[in-house]
Amino acid sequence: MSLMFPAGLAMGEAFYDRVNERQFLKKNITHGLHTVLIAPRRFGKTSLIKKTLDEMEILYLWLDFMAITSQEEAQIRFLNHIGELVIKIAKTEERLKKIAPQYFQLFKPEISLGIPGFLKISFKADNIPQVGISAALISLDLLAQASGIRLAIVCDEFQEIVGIDKEATLQASIRHAAERAQAITYLFSGSKHRPLRRLFNGKQNPLYELCDQMTLNRISEEDYREYLQQEAKKKWGHPLGGEVLRKIFYYTDYYPKYINALCAKIWFSGLEPTPELVDTLWGNYIFSKKSDIAEELDDLTLNQRKLLKYLCFNPTEFPFSHETSLRSGMPASAIQTALPVLLDRDLVIELEGIHTVLDPTFRSYFEMF
Ligand SMILES: Nc1ncnc2c1ncn2[C@@H]1O[C@H](COP(=O)(O)OP(=O)(O)OP(=O)(O)O)[C@@H](O)[C@H]1O
Ligand SMILES: [Mg+2]
Repeated sequence: MSLMFPAGLAMGEAFYDRVNERQFLKKNITHGLHTVLIAPRRFGKTSLIKKTLDEMEILYLWLDFMAITSQEEAQIRFLNHIGELVIKIAKTEERLKKIAPQYFQLFKPEISLGIPGFLKISFKADNIPQVGISAALISLDLLAQASGIRLAIVCDEFQEIVGIDKEATLQASIRHAAERAQAITYLFSGSKHRPLRRLFNGKQNPLYELCDQMTLNRISEEDYREYLQQEAKKKWGHPLGGEVLRKIFYYTDYYPKYINALCAKIWFSGLEPTPELVDTLWGNYIFSKKSDIAEELDDLTLNQRKLLKYLCFNPTEFPFSHETSLRSGMPASAIQTALPVLLDRDLVIELEGIHTVLDPTFRSYFEMF
């Protein structure tokens, strides 16, 4: 896999742009302003947070709520990660033996030596039902204060907490700790726009008003152009032609994920970058993604799929208009039922008032098959 166009997270050298966003986030982290980062899927939220934390060289705890399937599991993960952080803060066994009982007595810390030289600590979750996870988070904060360092706690894919936290007790627990935090900055991030906004904007919600909200836009054409031309000169000794660039942007719709996928193919094809090559490689890519895309469409109703397909080719300001109804062949009432589902799932988003299909591979899929 190339480092230049990574398929996974964008790290190190491969990270383009996002200078202002990184600055903003850095400032918030430094000043202890808890932040929620809301952006559609694959806009680069996880990459941005990871990159910023790495650049700051601060210690952090990372929880991905997509991977967590129950409240108990979330609490245990929190405890495990807190243990890992405590070891990093303590650095030596001697200090760990002092710190652990001092701050985490409630969780009966047990220290052991794993692989030679590797410290391990385990906390018991027995007291969690009474004190909630906030007690452990607050203790961690006290430890960070006493050690004179700042920590970050990242809750990624945070919208997924709704499914495991029906009574919102875990959210309340996190809020309780976050409100009192002096040395920890909390970062929340998630992909499903509307559910996540609801989580932070609903007045009855415990996380209401706790956070600074940050949105992420697409990386601009200018930034991509500069980066791609610089890499093209290294590779072929000349910049890409206008038509090649236009095709790259048309197919990928400025999505970092797809720019990376397509450009990796172009750069490593061993061929001169021509418009025809871009067409072929993108076609191959869509073909290889065919089953993934089909799977995403699989649990949509026929009407939802119909509307999605229509919006792929006809983004509109007026989804409920007579014209949309006529041209899509769907009664307005059917559109009214289908659209909220597509919006909730981030398949369609409203960008500057226009309802658009977010993922450009759907358009190619509908064109090809
Ligand atoms: N600034 C960037 N520079 C280069 N590549 C990037 C950048 N931001 C994101 N990417 C690439 O885009 C893809 C998606 O990024 P990332 O996983 O960070 O997005 P996300 O918003 O967290 O997505 P999801 O909603 O799926 O969690 C990755 O392949 C990553 O390498
Ligand atoms: Mg992510």
